[in-house]
Amino acid sequence: MTRVRAAIFASGTGSNFEAIINTKDLACDIVLLISDQPGAKVIEKAHKHGIKTLIVDRKQFDSKIAFEQAMIEVLKAEHVEWVFLAGYMRLVGQTLLQAFEGKIVNIHPSLLPAFPGIDAIGQAFDAGVKKSGVTVHFIDEGIDTGPIIAQEEVNILPDDTIQSLQKRIQDVEHVLYPKVINHLINGGLTS
Ligand code: GRF
Repeated sequence: MTRVRAAIFASGTGSNFEAIINTKDLACDIVLLISDQPGAKVIEKAHKHGIKTLIVDRKQFDSKIAFEQAMIEVLKAEHVEWVFLAGYMRLVGQTLLQAFEGKIVNIHPSLLPAFPGIDAIGQAFDAGVKKSGVTVHFIDEGIDTGPIIAQEEVNILPDDTIQSLQKRIQDVEHVLYPKVINHLINGGLTS
């Protein structure tokens, strides 16, 4: 049987990207990294692991539709079936959502629907809540609003700093995301 092929979209450091590709029993092959940030650290990580990269600059395209069509062309050429967002800082539009219906997943560092959007860890910290966590969800056109697949709680401790909390949240992400990916691919979970 041929292995399922997947792409990761990321704009930042790429710790989730690395955790996914370093997972020994991952149920799919990560064949492509797409990034909209030419200087992103995640690109170096992809190069180091010999994974193909596509850098897309939104400014080079007249419209979001054209921007996403260019991505779809490469995704299709690479026979990509699933797309995993890992710190991709752009809203995915209808063009991509329709081309990969029910096959685009995101990870977010809070217990959604609490603290969507940017700086979710800082938002939870500033709100003074006692627990936050991690959510893996299918995406829709909203900001972190799609159907939830899995969540894991992380307690916020009295002596936590944003940095210590972020570290514990990311440690959870790095285990949860590959686990959910395997469930989706092996277990046939759909949105
Ligand atoms: C993660 O915390 C993820 O939940 C959020 O963006 C962050 C990406 O971190 N969507 P990294 O680039 O994987 O280290």
